[in-house]
This record gives sequence, structure tokens and C-alpha cells, in this order.
Amino acid sequence: MLELKNIRKTYHGKCLDVPVLKGVNLTIQEGDFIMIVGKSGCGKSTLLNILGCMDYADEGEYLFMGSSIQTYKDKQLAYFRNQNIGFVFQSFYLINEISVRENVEIPMGLLGVKAKERRKRALELLCLVGLEEKAGSKPLELSGGQQQRVAIARALANNPKVLLCDEPTGNLDEENGKIIMELLADLHAKGVTIVMVTHDMSFARYGNRIVKIISGEEIVDV
Ligand SMILES: Nc1ncnc2c1ncn2[C@@H]1O[C@H](COP(=O)(O)OP(=O)(O)OP(=O)(O)O)[C@@H](O)[C@H]1O
Ligand SMILES: [Mg+2]
Repeated sequence: MLELKNIRKTYHGKCLDVPVLKGVNLTIQEGDFIMIVGKSGCGKSTLLNILGCMDYADEGEYLFMGSSIQTYKDKQLAYFRNQNIGFVFQSFYLINEISVRENVEIPMGLLGVKAKERRKRALELLCLVGLEEKAGSKPLELSGGQQQRVAIARALANNPKVLLCDEPTGNLDEENGKIIMELLADLHAKGVTIVMVTHDMSFARYGNRIVKIISGEEIVDV
């Protein structure tokens, strides 16, 4: 479903260049729940950002359901991303001035979904993550774990082909981390393809496959 072939990525700093990915290959099948692990700074977020079309690789090929992503221009890529990919971050990135429901509606608004339909789907998604009673609250009135569940609902708004999560439990305590993992496992059981970065091996076991970035050249199954 997702295929990275010989991907290279170097960050160009003021005084030095940091080569992060040096010819990485990875194939993700539809229905996978893949965990990406590896030392801090090894390139996990870089890899996830490329998978999520948030960033381009310098070299190599990225096929998303057969389409070659690196040929897309910025605007086309942004549209493609919003339609096909859901992203969940460690620090939720909700908009605090608007309600929980309106946060979930944002990706649908960008695709031109009508207000009534947006509202209906947002409430369904909030129900799915167990937060229907918080629809009218502002994000900061929610706990961290609840905010992350809103972020997951938002990521699912346009029914993405794949859900990418960069340390979604990183800012949560053990108990809330577990709630998020159970929710992701549930979504996986419903057929959502998930790629998640984590530091926590006990959470990594929720995946059906764990891959470790050893170095910029080497990714192995563990
Ligand atoms: N925008 C950037 N500009 C310059 N260097 C960067 C940039 N983003 C990341 N890097 C460097 O690239 C390397 C990989 O970063 P990345 O964020 O992918 O690591 P990571 O595996 O996600 O680490 P962590 O587990 O700490 O989140 C690091 O050495 C980092 O300093
Ligand atoms: Mg990271």
C-alpha cells in the first residue's frame, strides 16, 4: 500500500548538513499496524513525515497506493494529504479557541463538506472515541488523554487510507496512554492502516509488526 524505495533525506543546517535517511526501504501493507522504534534522533519522525507527505525525500521513490508522490506539487500534495492521511502528534495541536466539535470538522471543511454533514460526522467520530458529551467544550477544558482522543477523531474526519501517529502517548500518563492504544487497536481491528512511532516497547506490542531504525541505512523487523 505504501512503499518507500531508497529514500534519502538530509537536513541542511547553517554550519553542517545532517544526513538522516541514507537509502531506506520500507513497505507497508493495507491493514497493517506498524510500530516504528529506534533511538532518539535516528529519523523516526523524519520517516513518518515523509510517509505523511508533510515533507519530501531528497531522493528515492514513494509510492502511495501506486501513485508516485514526489511528482506532486505543494498544493496538490496538501490536498492529497488531507484526503488520504490522518496525522496524530505527541502534542495534540488542537485549536483552543474553537469547540472540540469544530476542531474535528476542520479537515472536512478543507474538502468542502457542507456544514450539516460536517457536524453530523464530527459527532459520530466523537462518539467513536467516547467523547460525544464533550462536543461543545473547548480543548483546554479536557484532560490530555481526552484531547488526544479528539485529535484522533479529527485525524479520522476524512476517512483516511492511513493513520500516522508520532508518539501519540508521549505526553500522557500510563493509564491514558493505554486508553489511546486500546482505541488505536480498535481502529486497526476495523480495518484502518496505522503507522505509529513510539519509544515505549510495551505499547509497541499493540502493532502487528515492529520495525526498528538501526541507522540511516538500516531498518529491521524486531
Ligand atoms: N528541520 C530540521 N533541521 C535540521 N535538522 C533536523 C530537522 N529535523 C530533524 N533534524 C535532525 O534529524 C535527525 C533526525 O530527527 P528526527 O526528528 O527524525 O528523529 P527522531 O527519531 O524522531 O527522534 P525523537 O525520538 O527524539 O523524536 C536529528 O539528528 C535531528 O536533529
Ligand atoms: Mg521524533
